[in-house]
Amino acid sequence: MISKRPIDIPCTLQERKVLEQIALAAHELGLPCYLIGGFVRDKLLNRRTKDMDVVCVGDGIALAHKVATHFDNVPVNFFKTYGTAQVKWNELEIEFVGARKESYRQHSRNPEVVPGTLKDDQLRRDFTINALAISLNEDDYGTLIDPFNGLADLEAKIIRTPLEPAQTFIDDPLRMMRAIRFASQLQFTITDEAFRAIQDNAERIKIISQERISDEFNKIMLSAVPSVGLDLLYKAGLMKIILPQMIDLVGVEMVEGKGHKDNFYHTLQVVDNISRNTHDLWLRWAALLHDIGKPATKRFEQGHGWTFHGHDAVGGKMVPRIFAKMKLPQHESMRLVKKLVELHLRPISVTKENITDSAIRRLLFDAGDDIEGLMMLCEADITSKNRVKVKRYLENFELVRQRLKEVEESDRIRNWQPPVTGEMIMETFGLKPSRVVGDLKNAIREAILDGVIPNTYEAAYAFLLEKAQALDLTPVK
Ligand code: CTP
Repeated sequence: MISKRPIDIPCTLQERKVLEQIALAAHELGLPCYLIGGFVRDKLLNRRTKDMDVVCVGDGIALAHKVATHFDNVPVNFFKTYGTAQVKWNELEIEFVGARKESYRQHSRNPEVVPGTLKDDQLRRDFTINALAISLNEDDYGTLIDPFNGLADLEAKIIRTPLEPAQTFIDDPLRMMRAIRFASQLQFTITDEAFRAIQDNAERIKIISQERISDEFNKIMLSAVPSVGLDLLYKAGLMKIILPQMIDLVGVEMVEGKGHKDNFYHTLQVVDNISRNTHDLWLRWAALLHDIGKPATKRFEQGHGWTFHGHDAVGGKMVPRIFAKMKLPQHESMRLVKKLVELHLRPISVTKENITDSAIRRLLFDAGDDIEGLMMLCEADITSKNRVKVKRYLENFELVRQRLKEVEESDRIRNWQPPVTGEMIMETFGLKPSRVVGDLKNAIREAILDGVIPNTYEAAYAFLLEKAQALDLTPVK
C-alpha cells in the first residue's frame, strides 16, 4: 500500500485521489513514478492547472493502460514513436512518459529516445522550474525531488536551464519562445546566460512549426503585461523572424531637429494599456497592429514635420497577410482586427469635427457591434506623458461615448440596414439587379447617415422617388 504521507504541493481532494490511483497502478507494475513539470510548478505558484505530467522509469504507455483500469477503463491515447500516452479523467488531462535521456538530431525536433533515470529526464527538461518532480512511490510518496534547485528559482522568479543553455535551446528551439512566454506570463527573469544563448540561437526557431510559434506568441499576448514578452522577443532577435513588420516600427528618425515617437515602444504600451481592460486576444492583436502601416506611409513634410497619412488603411491591408503568415484564424478574428486597424483614427477625427451627429452615425454604422472594442483601442492609444493632454483626450472620448449612446438610442444605427432595400427599389421601378439600384440604395443610406432625411420608411421612400425622377425612372405601379 502506498503511504499516506501528504504531498508537498497544494492539491484538491480529487487530485490527491487521482495521484494515489496512479501511484497504486505504478506500484502494481513495479515502476518508479513521479509527478513532474507544469503541474508541480503551477501548484507551487498557486496557479490553476488541469494538465498532469507523469514520468516513470520504464514504459509510460504501459503505465497509462494500467492507470486506465483504475479509472473505469477510460480510453488511452498513445503515440508509440514518442513513447507518450494520455488519459482524461474528469477535468484532468494526464500525460504519461517513460524517463529518457535524449539527444536531438541537429535539424529537427524529433528526438532519438533512449531510456534513462529520473535525473536524466529532469536534466533534459527545459527549465529548472519545470524539472521539479514529486515522488509517487511507496518509500518517499509526496516528496519533492529537486536536483537543480528549481524551487529556489521558483521563489526567486528565475528562468534557468538545467543544462548549459545553448544545449537546451538547440535540443528544442521552441524553448526559446517558452522561456520568453514564462517570463511574460509569470513575470520571471531569464538568466543572462540563458538569454544570450537565445540571442545566439534565434535563427533556429525556423525549424519550429508556425502553429507552435503562434501558440506561444498568443500566450505572450494574453499575459498580464504583454510588453514584457514582446520586448524580450525583440531583444532576443526572435521578433524579426516571427513578425518582421514589428521591427520596421522601431526607432526614431530626426529631420530638421524634429523626431517622431518610437512606434514600436508606443505600440507595446498600447498593447499593455488595452490588456488592462480586456482579456480578448483579438482586441490585443488590434492594439499590436494598429500602427503597422506607419513605416510604409512615413513622410517628412518640410516645415510641418512627420506624417503618416493613410497608415490606417495601409495597416488594415497588411492584416490578412500577417494573419496568414502567422497561421492565425482567417475569418471573424482577422476581420475584427482589420476593421479596428482601419477605423482606429475615426473616433479622434470625430472629436476634431465638433462631434456632429452625422459623424457619430457614420462611426456607428462602420463599427457596428465592434464600437466598444474600437473605443477601447482608441483610449489605449493615448500614450502621451503630458497629463494635461491625456486628460483632454480622455474627456473628448468620453464625450464621443456619450454622443454614441444618444445617437444610437434615437437612430438605432448600429447593425442598421436602410429602411428601403435593394429588392424594394427593383420592385418599385421594375428593375433587374444593376448599378442604378446600388446607386439609389447608397444615396438613401448616405442621406440618412448625413441627417438629410430621418431614418424612417416614409422619408426614405419619398427621397427615393425624388432621386429616381431625376434619373427618368417612374414607378411601375
Ligand atoms: N517540456 C520541455 N520542453 C518543451 C516542452 C515541455 O522540457 N519544449 C517539459 C517541461 O518539463 C514541461 C513539461 O514538459 O513542464 C510539460 O510541457 P507542457 O505541458 O507543454 O508545458 P507546461 O510546462 O505544463 O506549461 P503550459 O501548460 O503553460 O504550456
